Amino acid sequence: MCGIAGYVGPRKAVEVVYDQLKRLEYRGYDSAGIAFLEEGNISVLKRAGKLSVLGEVVDANPDDSHMAIAHSRWATHGAPTDLNAHPHMDQYEQIALIHNGIIENYLELKDELAHDGHDHQFFSETDTEVAAHIIGEEYATGVSLEVAVRQAVKRFRGAYSMVVISKREPGKIVAARSASPLVIGIGVGENMLASDIPALLPYTREMMILDDDQVAILTPEGITITDLNGKEVPYEIMHIDWDIAAAEKGGYDHFMLKEIHEQPEVMSRVLAGRIDEKGQVRLDNVYGEHVWNEIDRVSIIACGTSYNAGLMGKYLFEKLLRLPTDVYYASEFRYGDPILSSRSLCIFISQSGETADSLAALKLCKSQRMRTLGIVNVVGSSIARECDRTILTQAGPEISVASTKAYTAQVLSLIMLVLHIAQIKETPGVRSEQVVRSLRNLPGIAQRVFELEDQVKAVVQTCKDANLFFFLGRGADAYVSLEGALKMKEIAYVPTQEIPAGEMKHGPLALITDGVFAIFGATEEHLRDKVISNIKEVQARGGYVVAITTEEDTSLEKAADATLKIPRTGQTYLDALLSNIVLQLLAYYFAVARGCEIDQPRNLAKSVTVE
Ligand code: G6P
Repeated sequence: MCGIAGYVGPRKAVEVVYDQLKRLEYRGYDSAGIAFLEEGNISVLKRAGKLSVLGEVVDANPDDSHMAIAHSRWATHGAPTDLNAHPHMDQYEQIALIHNGIIENYLELKDELAHDGHDHQFFSETDTEVAAHIIGEEYATGVSLEVAVRQAVKRFRGAYSMVVISKREPGKIVAARSASPLVIGIGVGENMLASDIPALLPYTREMMILDDDQVAILTPEGITITDLNGKEVPYEIMHIDWDIAAAEKGGYDHFMLKEIHEQPEVMSRVLAGRIDEKGQVRLDNVYGEHVWNEIDRVSIIACGTSYNAGLMGKYLFEKLLRLPTDVYYASEFRYGDPILSSRSLCIFISQSGETADSLAALKLCKSQRMRTLGIVNVVGSSIARECDRTILTQAGPEISVASTKAYTAQVLSLIMLVLHIAQIKETPGVRSEQVVRSLRNLPGIAQRVFELEDQVKAVVQTCKDANLFFFLGRGADAYVSLEGALKMKEIAYVPTQEIPAGEMKHGPLALITDGVFAIFGATEEHLRDKVISNIKEVQARGGYVVAITTEEDTSLEKAADATLKIPRTGQTYLDALLSNIVLQLLAYYFAVARGCEIDQPRNLAKSVTVE
């Protein structure tokens, strides 16, 4: 999604903000731009396409500015062109503005501008340029930049964060936030801001997160935070101790492969401190016994990969706790008419904690006084802060747009939650010694999945010309198949058909012809005979079958054309988690074989902060 960067201080400001934007590249974008102060005027450089295109223009300009703002845009209003890229200036060329999110009432505002008696000429199709003109009009009354911004944002509707500089007030950056993330980095004799923490890490580790309806004023000497009426508000500084190396590729060709390989370590982190020496599950910051006894229904709300993790949550809640569970796409939930009661628990799963649809659904639940529990990866993110209770998934920063380790951490966090509830409610057989042993051994066993990497590459050689993949399974494998198919679509751009294997005969079987590949998940022993029948259905129509099963099984290798065998964990729901790692590797090596751009797939963004 869009990236924001800003710097004021003694360093070469353009160089700093360009570097900060580069650190946000993983969020996905289609154009980029920079504004800086040069000889008393604001210079704006902006280009459609990759950051390197902007980099060439930046390099051709002298960099002696000490204040700059920069933006990478993911088109919402208007195509990704040079003109639509941010920053945008006001009609008097006094200020430059960058902006994430959407100003919903921009057409209304544009109409107001058309009738204000001043000459408004627009060079872009963006809502941002309209916002710049509105701020420009306020500023033209002679007030300070922060007052102009405060007056203007009171007129904006929507979810956005914005950053403004003025040629009249060098050495000052003003930022405002309404439901779109903005982090302020506090340095010594310098200050900066960005839409995401990793952009600031090389410069400072002291940060604060701007809240909704707050305005920040940054100068080299300090920061001031006010509400929309100009009243100064106190703020908390957080020390961020993320390792910068964790946000770099660490020897792998792509972040995605690095993140796939990090999963055993992520599992250890999720489990660390959550199972004590006696095998008791300890989850801090979740509800107490009386609440769990009251809850009779769970609604899981999420998007994308997090939604698929939610489906595994449904499997776990229903199978292990016998608790009816619905899983909703956040985008549908917020406009549907969900049936919720005071005995429901709403669980929000989100890697970024900033997904606009999930956040809006959360706000809806809160307005109805529902209990809300977040399963979130980013500390201090909007969803983490808005939920009554939050489980942090501990996956560490995920850079690749296609989510891998976050899914594993989400599902494992759900497993810990289910075990925690079972322990409180004394549900028989769920948190047994055997389960605890399986969990403790899980990271080591997961590491052994990577012994399959060469076999996965061999499978990819067989199917690298495929133009349709089926992802099939039954039970937990059916849910995991959905995630495997999503990965394949996201990074390899190949159509997929994902459906529980038993449902094939009701339609999708008609798509099976020579050259179609079907990936079957078959880790659940009691369902294998059924899966074998489904495999035969596919093969009889010319399909090529790759089966993922567990290492002791011999039945599947007789039935399938190729078999990938994962080590056994002792629990079917954990086996499914390992089989997903195989699916991730399959999508990854397939996309590599097809020459696809892995970490930033076309049309997709890491964090979707607009509807
Ligand atoms: C985007 C990302 C996906 C992610 C989804 C939900 O589409 O590309 O990888 O699963 O958003 O994001 P969240 O941060 O809420 O998990």
